[in-house]
Amino acid sequence: MLPLESTKRLTRALQELGLIKKEGKGAFLVTEKGRLLQFKHPYSLAQATELWAGEHQESWRNLIYSLQTQSSAFKNKYGRAWFDWLAEHPDKHTQYHEVLKIYSSKDYEKLTSIIDFDQHRALLDLGGSTGSLLLKILETHKKLKGILFDLPEVLEQVKIPRSIEGRLELLGCNFFENWPSFSVDGALLARILHDWSDEEAVKILKKVGSALSAKKFSAVYIVENILDETTGRGSLLDLNMLVMTAGKERNIDQFRHILREAGFVLTDIRPMNEVTSVLVARKASN
Ligand SMILES: C[S@@+](CC[C@H](N)C(=O)[O-])C[C@H]1O[C@@H](n2cnc3c(N)ncnc32)[C@H](O)[C@@H]1O
Repeated sequence: MLPLESTKRLTRALQELGLIKKEGKGAFLVTEKGRLLQFKHPYSLAQATELWAGEHQESWRNLIYSLQTQSSAFKNKYGRAWFDWLAEHPDKHTQYHEVLKIYSSKDYEKLTSIIDFDQHRALLDLGGSTGSLLLKILETHKKLKGILFDLPEVLEQVKIPRSIEGRLELLGCNFFENWPSFSVDGALLARILHDWSDEEAVKILKKVGSALSAKKFSAVYIVENILDETTGRGSLLDLNMLVMTAGKERNIDQFRHILREAGFVLTDIRPMNEVTSVLVARKASN
């Protein structure tokens, strides 16, 4: 129990943050923004807040190191790259993928109305985490088959619902190593490329290109926050990528560049919400 004076000071600060608002004399109500910090909210950011308050915050303290060296402050402090470190910390690993699931339920809400997945037979979700997005797409598009590709330890957490049994294949692989042979006519890369440098992103895209059939409608869908040089939108996340993985957010020209290097052309840009867009790319020879 806090002393009354401390409670007053804390509530005043929560009010300033817009998390609660005064309702009558001495009473406070939790605002919509405040409700996002409750674990029971469907789009709860409570777990994300805990996650960001840990190693992320610690890495941000060393932002200057990242800015000076253009490399990951996380890796410098913890001795391992973010995804390798997660594999060795099961609790954090579970929490991280839970947070991704909640983000995706909100951020990718409109994806199935922007992209006509019915035109595809087989869709690869590269780095699809525990599959919440791909499962949703497969549930809506009954003729579609899906390949969920992520690190083996991530796929251990996937639960396949009965409704899509037989239409979902799990591929537990490292996308920088040899891929088993398979062919798809659609590939989804949601918040994948921003984890990596241009060189690494091109390597990933080239591998996607090898798995993508040469059909006219074959396409890669890149879901990312597009960096806006005019307003600066996306720049904080850009610094976060630098600090955590030595990755980066990209503007449209930068996406065009890595796509061209990997043998693709950007054919369409479809905004999904204020921050996230879907870039549609096709093989340059198509
Ligand atoms: C930022 S998350 C994006 C997850 C999901 N696509 C989304 O948008 O919510 C990056 C994903 O890439 C996966 N990943 C990272 N490195 C990988 C690698 N070398 N091979 C395969 N998957 C990898 C991670 O496990 C994680 O699921």
